[in-house]
Order: sequence, then C-alpha cells, then structure tokens
Amino acid sequence: MDILKLRNDFPVLRENKELAYLDNAAMALKPDCVINAVNNYYEHYGVNVHRGVYQLSYEATDMYEEARNTIASFINASFEEVVFTRGASQSLNLVASSYGLHNINPGDEVITTELEHHSSNMPWFNVCKVKGATLKYVPLDSEGRITVDAFKSVLSNKTKVVAITYVSNVMGYVTPIKEIIKLAHEVGAIVSLDGAQAVPHMNVDVKDLDCDFLSFSGHKLCGPTGIGVLYGKKELLDNMEPIEFGGDMADTVTKTSQTYKATPYKFEAGTPIIAGAIGLAEACKYLKNIGLDNIAKYEKSLRDKAVSLLKEIDGVTIYNPNAETGIIAFNIDGVHPHDAASVFDDHKVCIRAGHHCAQLITAWLNTIGTVRASFYFYNTEEDIKKFIEGVKAAKDFFSQF
Ligand code: ALA
Repeated sequence: MDILKLRNDFPVLRENKELAYLDNAAMALKPDCVINAVNNYYEHYGVNVHRGVYQLSYEATDMYEEARNTIASFINASFEEVVFTRGASQSLNLVASSYGLHNINPGDEVITTELEHHSSNMPWFNVCKVKGATLKYVPLDSEGRITVDAFKSVLSNKTKVVAITYVSNVMGYVTPIKEIIKLAHEVGAIVSLDGAQAVPHMNVDVKDLDCDFLSFSGHKLCGPTGIGVLYGKKELLDNMEPIEFGGDMADTVTKTSQTYKATPYKFEAGTPIIAGAIGLAEACKYLKNIGLDNIAKYEKSLRDKAVSLLKEIDGVTIYNPNAETGIIAFNIDGVHPHDAASVFDDHKVCIRAGHHCAQLITAWLNTIGTVRASFYFYNTEEDIKKFIEGVKAAKDFFSQF
C-alpha cells in the first residue's frame, strides 16, 4: 500500500496536514471517489427511484440497485439479502424488533456479552423484557475477551438468539465468531452479528461465517453517513415482518388488507437512501481495491508500534495491549479521559474519550471511561508520533494539579 498516495485521496487530510485523525472507530474519513459519486447523483439525477416512469428515474434506479449488488458482493451475500438502513444501529434494532419480538417467547434465552456496543445489546434487553425471556451474558476472560468455552457455559437448548459483536469498539478484540455461530446453530439459535467495527477493517464473508444477520454502517468504511446495511439470510428475511410501513414497501393496499413487496424491499419503507447507497458502493470498491487483508495487516502493525511506545510511558494503563485490530483503549492515571482528550485536541490529535456507547465493558474495566485511539489504513507513523507526544503532554499538564 502506498499510504501517502492513499492519503491524497482524502480532502480532509489534504486540507489538514497537521491532523492525526485517530477516531476511525467512530467514523472514517471520505475519499474523493465517494464524495464524487454522491455529488454525481445529486448533480445529474436527484430524482426518486422505483417510482418515476421517465429515463432519469430509470437510470437512478439502476445506480441504486447496482450499489446493492456491489455491497452484496463485498460481503459475499446475494442481492436480495442486503437491506439498506440508516446505519448499524437501525439494522441491529430491525433484527430485534422484527425477528425478536415475533420469535422469542417466555422462558427463552438470548445470549449477549459485556463487550457489546449499546446498539447490539439494548434492543435485546428490551425484547427479553417485553417477551419474558432471559438475557444471559458470556463471562469475559481476564483480558476481557469472549472465548468459545465461556460461550459454551451459557449456551443451552433454551438459547434462541445470540446478539454478539464481531470486533469490540472499545477493546478491538476479534470474537472467535465462526465457532460460536456453529455452536449456536447446533442448539437451533440464530446469530445477529454486529459487524460495525469488523467490515471496514477485514475481509468479512457472510457465507463463510454462516451468520444469520450481519449489521454494519457505511460511515465507518469511508462511506456517507446515514446509510447502513442489514444482511440477513433470505429464508429468515422472507419470514420476517416489516417494522416500518408505507411508501414503496407496499404491494397491495385495500381498506381491509395489505401486502408487502418481497425481501429486501419490504424493509425499506419510504424514499430510500439513494445517494447513501451509491456512495457506500463506491467506498466498498475503493476498499476492495486496496485489499481488506492489507488494511488489517497494516492497522495491526500501526497499533503494535503505538502500544510499544505507550508502554514506555509511566502512569499509562492500556486495557487491551494484545488486541488484534487498530483500537487502543487506555487511560493516563489520575486524568479524566475527557481532560486528556482536550490536550490531544490542542495537539491536533483526534481521539475519542468516554464510555464509547459501551457502558457494560466500561463497568467491567472498573473505570469511568477510556481514551480510545483507533487507526485506519491512511494513518502513518507520523500520526503515532503526534499521538505519543499528546499522551506525554496530557500527562505533564495534569501532573501539575
Ligand atoms: N460506535 C461508534 C464508536 O464506537 C460511534 O465510536
């Protein structure tokens, strides 16, 4: 990978040469090709899809559906298994509201973990509350990881759903998901996988994983905001009820009955997220061209370098020194994460501080929050240098008080 050439694809990096952008787990920057694809739709089309009986609308429809094809092939899914949503949160909620509320019964069990982002575990807390089911948590090991053995300890014949993250947004651990999915299927449970921190950073193949549902956002993989994907196995989606009604998802509507379009359209009420889908498809092509394996390897090498430099600084607690991905969670002893973040900002280093919408793991770590640096393929050793300078500056500044 020619990192400097790739960096030049990003207007924000071109315009802010001093910036070390290390908040990629919250959002990735956007390359020219994505911005151009979105602009192209607005400048030259800007019309609705599926409805218009005129040439411009036919062409916009083709672009929108071609985007679905590109995204499906990015995760090795079929066209009709890709539902467009507003983002990973909406995708995860769709599974819980549509599959969960109709298939979970009193006495059933749902398994989740303390590593989940709120958007992964909260919808199932609600389903269990409404349906009288039990929410069980996989006990984490001493590093805070999900292990297959710990998963087995909570799995039972009562398990109906496993709502689990592929990569933790705080700890950056990769869940041993293939074995977990296999075990879940052996007891007849389905797996709703939160892929928000995985799909942008590694090759994800839904057929190989055999996951039942996979949710991810566009904005974390260099795509636009406001677009996400729910992948679902066709036979599951076909048997699920829509949760939003109206617009183009309707097939026949009378005063006494209503029927819906087939999957995936029955889940896409209203005017779809046309520009978002087109932009996301462009982002998928861009990342595929770089190579997801190259991206994963490079991010890991950056995080390893950063962790080894962080370890040299006294008074820094690293919560995930051995993680496999580009996320580092840490604290400077005695410094509130938000205070540290403001010093990083002074040094033009963008990081995130707080509980990262994952209060369960923050509680498990027995802290009020963490500082999180997260890398992507356009980060450099220069970014690491600025990051380490930021840590030292925050430590020095707050040691005065
Ligand atoms: N879920 C995003 C994060 O982890 C926003 O920061």
